[in-house]
This record gives sequence, structure tokens and C-alpha cells, in this order.
Amino acid sequence: MEPCGVVFSEFHTNGDRSHKHDSHFESSGEKGIIVQVLKADAQGRLVVCTVKQGGQAPDRVEVRVKAAGVNRADLLQLAGHYPPPPGASEIPGLEVAGVVARDQGPWHRGQRVMALLDGGGYADRVWVPQGQLMPLPDNLDYIQGAAIPEAFLTAYQALMTIGDLAAGERLLIHAGASGVGSAALQLGRLLGAEVTITCGSNDKAAFCRGLGADRAINYRAGDWWQGLEEQDLILDMVGGSYLDPNLRSLALDGRIVTLAMQGGRHGQLDFARLLAKRATLTGSTLRNRTSAYKARLVQRFWRRFSDSFVSGELKPVVDSSYPWQQVAQAHRRMAANENRGKLILSLES
Ligand SMILES: NC(=O)c1ccc[n+]([C@@H]2O[C@H](COP(=O)([O-])OP(=O)(O)OC[C@H]3O[C@@H](n4cnc5c(N)ncnc54)[C@H](OP(=O)(O)O)[C@@H]3O)[C@@H](O)[C@H]2O)c1
Repeated sequence: MEPCGVVFSEFHTNGDRSHKHDSHFESSGEKGIIVQVLKADAQGRLVVCTVKQGGQAPDRVEVRVKAAGVNRADLLQLAGHYPPPPGASEIPGLEVAGVVARDQGPWHRGQRVMALLDGGGYADRVWVPQGQLMPLPDNLDYIQGAAIPEAFLTAYQALMTIGDLAAGERLLIHAGASGVGSAALQLGRLLGAEVTITCGSNDKAAFCRGLGADRAINYRAGDWWQGLEEQDLILDMVGGSYLDPNLRSLALDGRIVTLAMQGGRHGQLDFARLLAKRATLTGSTLRNRTSAYKARLVQRFWRRFSDSFVSGELKPVVDSSYPWQQVAQAHRRMAANENRGKLILSLES
């Protein structure tokens, strides 16, 4: 790894060095653009570095980043447990809010936007496929905008496109106070579900009730599944030891959508119960989906819910924001499970 300070490296596309002759950039005719990024130094600490990117891809929208969302994936990537998918940037960062730098397709210079990324968001500029942008509503600032894409699109995908949630159904969300959980519980309520969440403290439980959860269970206070009514859909970010109690808690024809394995990679599956409940057990990720898939997801989500962000029915949940030079503090807070909602890095001084 290069020492940071001023680093000139031949980054192309999103920063992937393997695309040295990427036609996107050759056709732009630009020799390189200086970009400030957060990059790991020799000690593995993220520091602001200057890198030279190959130029602007003609089919992508250049965004001047004002704020970037922090995600568990960033921590996992830095720890070497979650490499970026092929073609994605090595720079962490899955979502940003900012300003469009130049007219491009339906997007115009100066427009305030939010973007879902494959990576590269810890930077002062990103180049985003057109379909992965959403307009930032006037009532939201950049910090709030950067809290929306990854959490809400992950929750939307899990609840609606995979979980097939219907009004009146019972929805159980684990890690209810997390970025994804706090988005999912708001979406679940808006869709007319009865929402129960689990979380690791009474404070977080109260916080989730404040966001609209019908029931909030502190899993540290006892077995969360005791006395729980059967659930139609379970949004699981724990995996491991939760597999069996999840299945026990499921209603007939119930669905479990697993998004993470914070509680372990392996669990014990009772096939008899799986069959008897006609259960569906699904896993999913968002990051490694194609651009076309993400564009469809973004479009459907925004068509359905943009008005709800304007009216305030849906709110980006910001735990706290940090100047991006203080990224280590934000990561420490997330690693300690202290955040309720999203942690955001601000690039505005
Ligand atoms: N598959 C996908 O498409 C996708 C997309 C985005 C995120 N994710 C994953 O979804 C999870 C939530 O993401 P996020 O960004 O919202 O994370 P986050 O805000 O950092 O929240 C994660 C929370 O999970 C809880 N937790 C951690 N370890 C646990 C354990 N062993 N048992 C029970 N709860 C535990 C903690 O809350 P408590 O204090 O309540 O325990 C923690 O604060 C992460 O694991 C992330 O990697 C998946």
C-alpha cells in the first residue's frame, strides 16, 4: 500500500486498477482527474489521499460528494473479509449525497442527488451509473440524503421484492435499530404490517418504538422468541444461532430473508419444521447485483416512496455525522454497535 499524502495512481472506472485501458475513459479524452479519497495507509488507517482517476465515463454521472454513508460492509472490507465485487472500486463507500457536476442524461449540473454505489463513496467525486441516482428532496440535507440509499434500498428489496410483504402481515426485524433495520421498520409500518423488532438494549428498543415499531424486544433481557406470535416475514441480519428460533417463530407459508450473518455463519436447520411450515428461506445481497438490477430497484423504490420522504412519513435515521477526516471514530462507533440508525461522513467543512 502506498503511503498517503499525495498519491498518484492510475485508477480507472471506479478505481479498479485492473481496467487500465477502459474504453469509458479513453473515449473521454481526459488525461486524469485529481480526486480526494479516504484510503488505507500502511498501518491500515483511512486517511485523505489524492489520487488521479482516469477521467469521466461518458455514460456515468459525475457527482461532487457532500456526504457519504458508513456501512458495515466498509468495516468488513477494510478488515479483509468483504472484497469489492469485480470491477468495483477499492475505495470504500456504498452511498453518497452530493451535487451533479455536469449535465448528463436526465441529470443536470447543480442538481442535488443521492446515489447507490458499488464502492468508491469515500471520495470527493464519484461517477455513478445514471440509474443509480435519486433526486435529493428539498426538505433533506446532504447528511440525511447519504443515509437513504443503502439502508432503504436494502430494506425495500428484502421486504418487497424478495419478502413479498403484504398489509396486515406480521413482520419481525432483527437488529431493528441498525441502519437497515430502522429503514425496514418504517417501510414495514407504511406498508401496513405489524412490526416487531429485536435489538440489544432498552435504549434501542425505546428508539425503535419511537420510529413506529409495534413491539421492541431487547434480546439481552431473555429469549426474544418466547411469547412471540407467529411471524409472516422475518428480516434477519444475525444468521447462525437465529436460524432455529427464526423458523420456530415463523407462521405457515412464512418467509425468512437473511441479509447478514453477524451471529455466525452456520446454524442448525430443522427440515421437518421447514416443510411443515412451508417456509421459504432466502439470502440476498445488494452490492453484487448488476447496474441494470440496481437501476430497476432504485426506480421502483423512488416512484413508490419519494412522496413519503417529502411528507416526512419516511425519515432517514441519522445517528451522527463526522467530518470525513474522523472516519475512524465513526467506524469505532459502528464496530461497538453503538449507533442507532446511520453514521455519516461529511465532506463539507
Ligand atoms: N445483504 C445485503 O444486501 C446487505 C445490505 C446492507 C447491509 N447488510 C448487512 O445488514 C446488517 C445491518 O447493516 P447496517 O449497516 O444497518 O448495520 P449497523 O447499523 O451497523 O447495525 C448492525 C447492528 O446489528 C446488531 N448486531 C451485531 N451483532 C449482532 C449479533 N451477534 N446478534 C444480534 N444483533 C447483532 C447490533 O445492534 P444491537 O445492539 O441491537 O445488537 C448492531 O448495531 C449488517 O450486518 C450489514 O452488513 C446487508
